[in-house]
Amino acid sequence: MAGQSSRSEAGMVYVVVISTVSALAGLLFGFDTGVIAGALEPLAHHFAVQSEFTKELIVAAVTLGALGGAICSGKASSRLGRKHSIILSALLFIAGTLCTSLAQSVLMVVAGRLVMGFAVGLSAMVVPMYLSEVSPPSIRGGVVFTFQLAITIGIFAAYVINSIYAENENWRWMFGVGILPALLLFFGMLRLPESPRWLVLKNRTEEARRVLLKIMAVEKTEAALNSIKESVQHPQGGLRELFSKRFLPLVAIAFTLFVLQQLSGINTIFYYAPTVFKEAGFSDPVMVSLLPASVNVASTVLGIWVVDRLGRRGLAYIGFAGMAVCLILLGADLNGMVGGHGPEPLVSLVSVLCYIFFFAISLGGVPYIVMSELFPLTLRSVGMATASCANWGFNFLVSLTFLTLSSTLGMGTTFWLYACFMVLGLVFTYLFLPETKGRRLEDIEANLYAGKRPRNLGDPVQQ
Ligand code: BGC
Repeated sequence: MAGQSSRSEAGMVYVVVISTVSALAGLLFGFDTGVIAGALEPLAHHFAVQSEFTKELIVAAVTLGALGGAICSGKASSRLGRKHSIILSALLFIAGTLCTSLAQSVLMVVAGRLVMGFAVGLSAMVVPMYLSEVSPPSIRGGVVFTFQLAITIGIFAAYVINSIYAENENWRWMFGVGILPALLLFFGMLRLPESPRWLVLKNRTEEARRVLLKIMAVEKTEAALNSIKESVQHPQGGLRELFSKRFLPLVAIAFTLFVLQQLSGINTIFYYAPTVFKEAGFSDPVMVSLLPASVNVASTVLGIWVVDRLGRRGLAYIGFAGMAVCLILLGADLNGMVGGHGPEPLVSLVSVLCYIFFFAISLGGVPYIVMSELFPLTLRSVGMATASCANWGFNFLVSLTFLTLSSTLGMGTTFWLYACFMVLGLVFTYLFLPETKGRRLEDIEANLYAGKRPRNLGDPVQQ
């Protein structure tokens, strides 16, 4: 008995090591998207960039590259495997970072950021998939959520690094620091195991058994292996199969979650915080901008803790409702409806921070978790790749339109628009989102093949 519990504790420790190493990709995701806020102006100064379009291109290159990475992530994860796809992304992070920080022209900067972006898009799909496939059901939500935690730490680190190098405009080091986590990711991943699910998919059952033995109690290994083998019996599918009547609802759910994540307007805060706080009346908007990034990290820790207790649906309800209320309040304040004489800075600040809190405990991690749980093994790669495209496509759309919307509708009304999407999110959760907390991936799959409705995919399996 004592032997069994120490084995399963060792398994937990191993899963923690796996999630810490692979989540470094999330850190790079946050870092590479956040660092440009501080690096852009010194960089533009160095290369005497005048045109706004060139600046926008430098900023948007990561998102565009990420869209490319997301598109290719399905093929990469099923052909190379989960582990080697993450190793590939680490190499691309290294190459992109070197190219950007040593750039001798704007073209090299854009090329480097496109490569970095590709790595971000590739790993933002493969890491949640890998984490979900190696973790025991009881803690799977929390393990996948660590990827989101790493993103938030990356964003925060980027702000800190930016402020350290701001004084002497050292944009090369702002980018260059990213080389360290990229190297750690590369060398760390070399030592981690491949996903047992992918190994079974490739007929490498013995290797899969050895991995399972490391991550779960011995007596559970054979049953787990058998149900993975069963799920491999279903025909392998591609895009055509994915868009068939049976699987289309899954694509719709995962895709919509990412669309809603981005239409919450979260990145308007992370990409344009100083602009928003200036509008709210702060005299030092740059310093204030550090607060959302810190609240983001702290609240994500809470998210990890509660996601396997309250479940995906519970968190989605809390998140959508909380964000809707905060966005309405923020919009009202920016529209001058709270103080009477223009915006009250403190009201705006509190609404933004509460909004970040609700995002971080729910909509930050839940789409990554749900997309890694919904799809059956034989369609997981292509399904998750499709959902990831929504993440980057809509990220691009929102960041590209925020300033234009603010100058046409007004910034307050723009935030009201995002609030409407959060209300739709509540309806979506009620009607469609399954509760997958604590269920084995193979049980979710069995429900799907038994013809259950999407909303009921996480129900207990009838034997
Ligand atoms: C989103 C990113 C966002 C980040 C903020 C992630 O879940 O995909 O677009 O910047 O959360 O923490």
